[in-house]
Amino acid sequence: MDKAIRIIYDEHRSISAVLSGLKSLAELARDPGVRPDFAVFRAMIYYIDAFPERMHHPKEEDQLFARLLRRDPGARPLVEELHAEHVKGATLIRDLEQALLAYEQSWPAGVTRFGTAVEAYVQFHWQHMRKEEQKLLPLAERSLTAEDWTAIESAFAGNEDPVADLREKDFTSLYQRILSLAPSPIGLGDQWKRADS
Ligand SMILES: [Fe+2]
Ligand SMILES: [Fe+2]
Repeated sequence: MDKAIRIIYDEHRSISAVLSGLKSLAELARDPGVRPDFAVFRAMIYYIDAFPERMHHPKEEDQLFARLLRRDPGARPLVEELHAEHVKGATLIRDLEQALLAYEQSWPAGVTRFGTAVEAYVQFHWQHMRKEEQKLLPLAERSLTAEDWTAIESAFAGNEDPVADLREKDFTSLYQRILSLAPSPIGLGDQWKRADS
């Protein structure tokens, strides 16, 4: 059980780190004198779309939610709420992608719409992960069996990858790429240039 829970927490921490980097960079981009490096925004949003949306959430649904419902039917309202948030997250990430496309095409216009979409997604996802950690995982710890935890651990460790073309190692290299592109102190990349310099 401990290992499975640790993997879920670790995945939440990686997602959080990218969300917090995205939020800081979107704030930096509000300065119209600085041209953002759009490649880092694209890499971050691709990561959020591919990792939490297409890998982490499906594993939660297929393993954690399904097993919890079997062991504790009283958990249904919470599981349904979290499922609805996964669906809503998929819509919010599309809004974010559209806002980024528009922003890149029309910079420096479009910064307000982009900033609003970033804020909406980041706040939404943070509260979603908090709810899973504070409400769902304690319930799961109380009612799942050792057999459940073994299956969850193997799914989250990538042994039963639900999406054939996505692999854990791809996300590690994408995460490294984000770090190398993002300007310091968020990542290790160069500072964004002032448009007038
Ligand atoms: Fe989730
Ligand atoms: Fe989660």
